[in-house]
Amino acid sequence: MKTALPVLFAAFAILAGCTRDNDPNAVTDAGLTFYDLGPPSPPLPYPGREGPPSSIDGVPIPPECQSTGFPGADQHVNFNELRATLVAQKPGLEATQAALLAARYDLSNQPSASVTMFRGKPIQVGIRVKLPPGTTWASLGSMSPDEIRAAKLFPPGFLALPHPHHAAGGQVIEPQLINELRLQTLGFRDLLRFDIDFDLPQIFLPEFPPAMFLTTHPDLGDVSQGQLVTIENYYELFKFIMTPKQLEGLRMLVTPAPEQEFNLIDDRRTDRPSLGIACFDCHANGHTDGSFLIISDNRPQPQRRRGDTPSLRGVANQQIFGSKRSFMTVEDFTVFEERTAYFDDDLSQPLKKGFTMIDPTFQLVGMAEVQRILNFPPAPKLDLLGRLDTRLASAAEIRGEQLFHGKAQCAGCHPPPYYIDNVLHDLHLERFYDPQLVNCALATAEGPVKTTTLRGIKESPPYFHDGRLLTLEDSIEFFNIVLGDQLTTGEKSDLLAFLYTL
Ligand code: HEC
Ligand code: HEC
Repeated sequence: MKTALPVLFAAFAILAGCTRDNDPNAVTDAGLTFYDLGPPSPPLPYPGREGPPSSIDGVPIPPECQSTGFPGADQHVNFNELRATLVAQKPGLEATQAALLAARYDLSNQPSASVTMFRGKPIQVGIRVKLPPGTTWASLGSMSPDEIRAAKLFPPGFLALPHPHHAAGGQVIEPQLINELRLQTLGFRDLLRFDIDFDLPQIFLPEFPPAMFLTTHPDLGDVSQGQLVTIENYYELFKFIMTPKQLEGLRMLVTPAPEQEFNLIDDRRTDRPSLGIACFDCHANGHTDGSFLIISDNRPQPQRRRGDTPSLRGVANQQIFGSKRSFMTVEDFTVFEERTAYFDDDLSQPLKKGFTMIDPTFQLVGMAEVQRILNFPPAPKLDLLGRLDTRLASAAEIRGEQLFHGKAQCAGCHPPPYYIDNVLHDLHLERFYDPQLVNCALATAEGPVKTTTLRGIKESPPYFHDGRLLTLEDSIEFFNIVLGDQLTTGEKSDLLAFLYTL
């Protein structure tokens, strides 16, 4: 068996279709089709058990004598049955989600000719949220919330974006990450769920892998060297530029831990048992790859929100963590993510599915410290106070900055230098629409949500906590209506030019 294993893994690597694009930042117009990642890595051909023994020592044990189990008792889930049921539901769910996305958004490939993310992926341009028939962005911008609500004219793309299987929820991992992990681990780590696929086209996601900047190493620029930092390479990449404590923290951030969908037991959503998920699987290189989940902070399920992974760049400048829960330290958020958020806030689940003990003095301090030294990407046109250096900025950018602080009102909640105010705001979106169910996600009052930083904002589409806004143009139209700014077309394009400088 020993000699057969490497051969077996090599075979999996081929079976799993582990190929890397020649250009990792190549932009393909995935349109409305779901990603084709090939078949999931097949289960290992070890013998398993279909059920409890039907006879013991030759004595038949009838079904009525088998334990029915308490919830959480020894045998609770029949993997094959669970898988078959969910796989049968998958095409219907995906068709529904694809129809929703097509109805809401223009998903065509419109890369910017000049504006790119740090490592070169072009920004997608243009307003992608579709207008209700008979309206223009100018006409909507001049209407009051009551008028928009009464006439049912709030663009559907501004409503909550559902998870593709909102009732089931869970973490859905970005396809480029899945492929890269399969490749790096010869198919051993496969985060492809059998029950639901990632839904947004790659052109609307951050570049992959993203650049990584450290406050401790402004001399080095992007420290990732173009690689996805994982358990396979973190030591080689960082052994001469991090302290031993930081290295241990980083090791923990790239080490998978069991989670609701990704674990070693029958109640999982991968074909093969899975070691779990690592912090840097979603927060790729300390930034984000666009993987999403259902935020664990609320019940019932329709009021839980889809959560697009936020970037951790510059997280040291934040005072509260999580969109609603306002954890006060990175340490608290780190422990909470792995112990409760990974399990939908159900404290009994980690006891069944496994969890990682994070030692507070040796490991947590390092994990938190590595997050705190993640820096924003450079913004060469900003001065020491985070304002535009007028000698370097264009006329449009300067006008955009004036609008940001003036008529557009953005600075009221996104003040420099880090374009975040560290409080929650209630945007009262319910002024614009009647409560409605969108594929099991309830679009209703959303309540206060934490302001997100706008530093480096062009690098982290899609926007808003659930990713409902695909481009910065969408975000400008959204806030123009929500704040009643009444910006002209020219003013919107100046504001966009300014956002690109951040
Ligand atoms: C499946 C993807 C995923 C994984 C894995 C993940 N996160 Fe997150 N993370 C998120 C999402 C989504 C949020 C936003 C949650 C919210 O809005 O309440 C978040 C929020 C955070 C925040 C708060 C950021 C802010 O701006 O408020 C921190 C800090 C964080 N995660 C750290 C971690 C650490 C540490 C781990 C590993 C223990 C981890 N995350 C694992 C997706 C993920
Ligand atoms: C009343 C406070 C407030 C004002 C004013 C405001 N914002 Fe925001 N902004 C927020 C909050 C809160 C969020 C996070 C909302 C969420 O995710 O649910 C946000 C999120 C964003 C995002 C998405 C960030 C991300 O990482 O997903 C963008 C882009 C943005 N704002 C741009 C603007 C612009 C441009 C203006 C001015 C036209 C503006 N905001 C004015 C409070 C505000």
